[in-house]
Amino acid sequence: MFDLELIEKTYGNFGPRIEKARNVLQKPLTLSEKILYAHLFNPDKVENFKRGADYVDFAPDRVAMQDATAQMALLQFMNAGKAKTAVPSTVHCDHLIQASVGGRTDLQFALQNNKEVFDFLESVSNKYGIGFWKPGAGIIHQVVLENYAFPGGMMIGTDSHTVNAGGLGMIAIGVGGADAVDVMAGMAWELKFPKLIGVKLTGKLHGWTAPKDVILKVAGLLTVKGGTGYIIEYFGEGAKSLSATGKGTICNMGAEVGATTSTFGYDESMERYLRATGRAAVADLANGIKNHLTADPEVYASPEKYFDQLIEINLDELEPHLNGPFTPDRATPISKMAEVAKENGWPTKIEVGLIGSCTNSSYEDISRAASLAKQAVDKKLKTKSKFTITPGSEQVRYTIERDGFIDIFEKIGASVFANACGPCIGQWNREGADKGEKNTIVHSFNRNFSKRADGNPNTHAFVASPELVTALAIAGDLTFNPLTDKLINEDGQEVKLDPPTGEELPRNGFAVEDAGYQAPAEDGSSVNVAVAPDSGRLQLLSAFPAWDGNNITGAKLLIKAEGKCTTDHISMAGPWLRFRGHLDNISNNMLIGAVNAFNGETNKVKNQLTGEYDEVPKVQRAYKAAGIPTIVIGDHNYGEGSSREHAAMEPRHLGVKAVIVKSFARIHETNLKKQGMLALTFATETDYEKIQEDDTFNFLDLVDFAPGKPLKIEVSHADGSKDTVVVNHTYNEQQIEWFRAGSALNLIKKQNN
Ligand code: F3S
Repeated sequence: MFDLELIEKTYGNFGPRIEKARNVLQKPLTLSEKILYAHLFNPDKVENFKRGADYVDFAPDRVAMQDATAQMALLQFMNAGKAKTAVPSTVHCDHLIQASVGGRTDLQFALQNNKEVFDFLESVSNKYGIGFWKPGAGIIHQVVLENYAFPGGMMIGTDSHTVNAGGLGMIAIGVGGADAVDVMAGMAWELKFPKLIGVKLTGKLHGWTAPKDVILKVAGLLTVKGGTGYIIEYFGEGAKSLSATGKGTICNMGAEVGATTSTFGYDESMERYLRATGRAAVADLANGIKNHLTADPEVYASPEKYFDQLIEINLDELEPHLNGPFTPDRATPISKMAEVAKENGWPTKIEVGLIGSCTNSSYEDISRAASLAKQAVDKKLKTKSKFTITPGSEQVRYTIERDGFIDIFEKIGASVFANACGPCIGQWNREGADKGEKNTIVHSFNRNFSKRADGNPNTHAFVASPELVTALAIAGDLTFNPLTDKLINEDGQEVKLDPPTGEELPRNGFAVEDAGYQAPAEDGSSVNVAVAPDSGRLQLLSAFPAWDGNNITGAKLLIKAEGKCTTDHISMAGPWLRFRGHLDNISNNMLIGAVNAFNGETNKVKNQLTGEYDEVPKVQRAYKAAGIPTIVIGDHNYGEGSSREHAAMEPRHLGVKAVIVKSFARIHETNLKKQGMLALTFATETDYEKIQEDDTFNFLDLVDFAPGKPLKIEVSHADGSKDTVVVNHTYNEQQIEWFRAGSALNLIKKQNN
């Protein structure tokens, strides 16, 4: 499945390109710099790129797409005029499978319910030379780690947790579908050259502490914004002591601090993982260029000189953490949870413990969690909470079943969901969630925004390692500290759980009967891709109109969003996932989760044409029908979270012209640009306060739109007064061309004709 020739070719570039970069930069190189410079789109144009400032063109080795985002990516790719993808690409059917009763039944239901979409993805993949991972095969990032990730490689994926592949030493970055289209079409992929955070890990994990706790700690230190624009590079003896899958967990949740990606240097644990997953040939190749797959020794000797920020964590002292509720950076060490939960009035009874997901379903994770489940059985403890397992891939599921772990979990009453995203993305048909009761769950996933797991805004979700989740589910109590506390068993005796134990890799190797992979046709030219014209789930795209060359004037305020406005708030997941391939239908969820700054409510904004309050998409459609442009105003880190370009395409489709915020999350900002929108930031942050509910916006100098030049907007208030607001932007020449053409895709099409 993996492409050895591609890896050989990539590795062949490393020596000369790194040498060249070292000569130009005149300094030792970090691992991230080596991988980035080895993947320049124009290898002859080596410059000392300014971190955090220069836009650079890269040539990634691979593209991965999940079913929810692949629909729009492939609908766009179909319009790019190519016969095959330019780089190896894969589609993974994982997001559209709802967790309800249990793996087998849920999968059958999903196959029927999403047949049209899966058939579409399968036929497009077959036609354009894309590897297709069928529903049930597993979650994209686990499947990529098991099959495609390779040390020193560069990959983009249409999912923000693509960064998981950093566990095998990749630079893997989550992007929107439009970026995937660029790379699949053989074009350069542009990224602002990232700044670098070095994380030095000393010591060694022991007892209850797991790799997850490293990233939960980092999230507490950096917050959800702290990694924005950075690659996080882990190193040190502690890093080497972690398994490759543990490294994957840490890189996976780098998305939760906003990092562009995270990575680790090549080491023995990666080699072991490559060999255990049938890729001895890749390990041999990697061994051949080992010195290029870690930073130069001088970097490790004086990291403060080579990283923009440096964090040091001693794994010997690291405590298990629980992060949440509602945000993954609210980090609480387990020893403090009883006190913190009491102070905040969080419900302490745990209703459900959920393990697995793309973040934490390695053999090591499951075996350690199973060791606790076994103790619960042996020590006659009755598990107080419900407990579920979501395996990351069929290979993991098959192997853990063979090795008896599923059996052990079932003994403590666990349900095993399908190898899919399920409860991690609101695809959890949780009984009673619609009642909206205040309750607590603990899970080993990565995100815990409000409504993320079960759609209930009052579900307090805490993120922890699978082993801690298992222990807490057994105890049924958020304040339970397994390091110190005892439990009462069925015989009324006090018992204590011993620290978890497990195995990094299966002693008898991984096994699987049907991994769920389907290779594409050699020649796909005769493959027919059908989209029914009356489909409610798929809609062929028409091009967005080009800019008319005039200043945008008379634009009305659609919504001034207050506080957190993630891509979940802009384009909610859960039930809306079914419309991911139908732009007009999914646009009915546009910004319905954003809080209106003028009334503190969601999905209730003023229609300036009628003075009435109504739902955001309805109000926007009314403006569109009247031919009136609109503006969205937002707070800090607007668009944080997922890479879904729907959050940019929906406003574009419905006629929003500009999004003006205090600051953007990177992927969303790029997505807005790709779709031909204006993504702008207040030059003076406090100007956010000047925006009133009945405002009208007139751009004063959009006709002079140029890189590095702020724009001026006249804001007219209802009382007749006016303010002139200056807004900044990060558009370069090319991105301004996207805006002018109406979208990046319009430009690609033009260039292909
Ligand atoms: Fe799926 Fe959740 Fe991972 S949605 S890809 S399991 S972050």
